[in-house]
Amino acid sequence: MLVGWKPDRESDIPLHYQISRHIRNKITCGDWPVGTKIPSQRWLADEFGVNRSTIVMALDELTADGLLHGNRGGGTVVTGLCDHPGSPPPPDWISYVNSGVQSSNIPTVQEINRAEFRPDVIRLGTGELAPELLPQEAMRTVLQALSSETMPLGYAEPKGSASLRQFISQHVETYGIRAAPSSILIVSGALQALHLISIGLLHRGSTIFLEKPSYLYSIPIFHSAGMKLTGIPMDRHGIQAALIPKYRKQYNGALLYTIPSFHNPTGTVMSRERREQLMQVCHYEGLPLIEDDVYRDLWIDEPSPLPLKAADSSGIVLYLGSLSKTVSPGLRIGWIIGPEPVVDRLADIKMQTDYGASSLSQAVVEKWLSSGLYQQHMENLRQQLRHRRTIAVKALEQFLGDYADWEVPKGGFYIWVRLKRELPLKALFAAALKAGILLNPGHLYEGENNRHIRISYAFASLEDLETGIFRLSVLIKDMSNHFETNKSEE
Ligand SMILES: Cc1ncc(COP(=O)(O)O)c(C=O)c1O
Repeated sequence: MLVGWKPDRESDIPLHYQISRHIRNKITCGDWPVGTKIPSQRWLADEFGVNRSTIVMALDELTADGLLHGNRGGGTVVTGLCDHPGSPPPPDWISYVNSGVQSSNIPTVQEINRAEFRPDVIRLGTGELAPELLPQEAMRTVLQALSSETMPLGYAEPKGSASLRQFISQHVETYGIRAAPSSILIVSGALQALHLISIGLLHRGSTIFLEKPSYLYSIPIFHSAGMKLTGIPMDRHGIQAALIPKYRKQYNGALLYTIPSFHNPTGTVMSRERREQLMQVCHYEGLPLIEDDVYRDLWIDEPSPLPLKAADSSGIVLYLGSLSKTVSPGLRIGWIIGPEPVVDRLADIKMQTDYGASSLSQAVVEKWLSSGLYQQHMENLRQQLRHRRTIAVKALEQFLGDYADWEVPKGGFYIWVRLKRELPLKALFAAALKAGILLNPGHLYEGENNRHIRISYAFASLEDLETGIFRLSVLIKDMSNHFETNKSEE
């Protein structure tokens, strides 16, 4: 909320006065309207690098002036604008904010999104390539080549650049998908594809089946569109397809969302047999699927079996791909492949939403796919991820072997670490953040999960991976011992 500003310790103006003046400015210029809840005293003290007593002095001053009001147990809220006595009341932005149709992210996700930009934090959960894995040099080559051509600076056509769709068609053919450019829509990342599907193909009240756990539980897209998520258990071969008819009867699901290759968060690769079974069951049930395949090319040991879409002879699969996990999430380019009426409908909504994905980004991606740079980069990236995986698994064995177990993933970014005993993961998340470690706890991916932590070996540096896992192990041991002691005293 306040990130970036710090009081000036060299100044003659007392710290508490600088802080109260800063907050007063936030209120009087309208950045913090009436009803805004301001951060806790402890948070403000940490953020500004001052003692809590300094914060108390600053807030007391603002409270005395009628700008803030402290609720017992409910934090401190902005109450007034003393600088404009007699002026009409400002709009009640807080009630507007609370009325928006889109749900908020769950608090832990909001906290992660904020903490990811703190330089002092080791990001043990981040599902993104580390800065040193992003292909700076190759991207410079691509941009230089692009800068000597006529650059696409206008809007692209509704489904995205025709030539890029042609290259994507060739790209996906390498793993068995036959898709004409007319059945491909370029989107601003796979996440946007999910959003378009939620608002363009389904009605409120629909039920979406998905793996339990799943990445989809961590984003409120379908919830905001008035839909329910119903998780179907997984085993080591993937979603238990045999259970689908029973679930269908009970919940009447409209669609099934699956991540068959290097599943987020478990890392599981759906076996070939399970893929065949899933396609058969969904075909029989008339249940369409979304196949989210954004991790496919990140195999380390061996490529995963062919996508579901490769065996789709009746158009029941909507297939999602993206360059976010392999080349650059900043490009914001992904694609959806499906039957033409579906793609046309989603393209129409996309035009209403943003007039198409960035045409410059599309041109960049076309160069990546057409020049051979993508394949070269992937070969190198796989080696680096293999090394990172080794380091992470070693550190886990060394520091957490007595407290947790895990399957070594065959690719992707994630190790789904299972604690041998349940721990309050919200408390562990908070304690870890205090110790400078950012975690993705299991409850992000499965309601009440107090058993798992998603560790990513893709983002933190090798040194931070070891340090982070060590520090995490100390917290887990302390917490486990604490519960053991409490139990024996009961
Ligand atoms: C399974 C899955 N799908 C989609 C996304 C989002 O991808 P994009 O950056 O292309 O929107 C992620 C990112 O974490 C993911 O894990």
